[in-house]
Amino acid sequence: MLRVLICVSGGGTNLQAIIDAWKAGELGDTQIVRVLSNNADAYALKRAELAGIEGVCVSPKEYENREDFHKALLQTINDANPDLIVLAGFLVVVPKEVIAAYRNRIINIHPSLIPSFCGTGYYGLKVHEAALARGVKISGATVHFVDEGTDTGPIILQKAVEVKEGDTPKELQLRIMEEAEWVILPKAIRLIADGKIAIGDKQ
Ligand code: GRF
Repeated sequence: MLRVLICVSGGGTNLQAIIDAWKAGELGDTQIVRVLSNNADAYALKRAELAGIEGVCVSPKEYENREDFHKALLQTINDANPDLIVLAGFLVVVPKEVIAAYRNRIINIHPSLIPSFCGTGYYGLKVHEAALARGVKISGATVHFVDEGTDTGPIILQKAVEVKEGDTPKELQLRIMEEAEWVILPKAIRLIADGKIAIGDKQ
């Protein structure tokens, strides 16, 4: 069984898509063991509660410094003993200790077709603003493994989405979520649960 921990910061629509797929039996032999938020007010925690999944908040505001926050984050993750960590709209830069401890076992959803509009500074609406400013006709979403870089890990799945004439960043963001993110994130978890994804250089 694949024990999955999901990290969130906000609304949690990607979390909801995973929960819905899980409840529909579409995630294979998967168990969502914990939802971790860095933000106590995240609606994603409510979604976890409604689904009967344990939600835990580890907020940087509760710690004196970044180091203590990172330690608490790692401890909270370790306590859940996950096989896979899913970053579903998690706005914290994952500490290197966590990446090292869960090498090739952390995946992230990014709302563009990597390597376009990714890397430092490209998060939330900024990604879609940049895509529209460049005038691309196609954007989309990417699920990738997390390494020490920003959006640099191996790509698992991508899905293209049409950019429409006159789109606002919010309209494009919503279309990408509906048509791509909510589809490929559960799909990637399923592939991993089924043992269909392998990457070399595991340490
Ligand atoms: C999504 O656009 C995701 O790609 C990005 O943050 C957003 C999270 O939305 N990293 P939600 O919290 O899943 O609704």
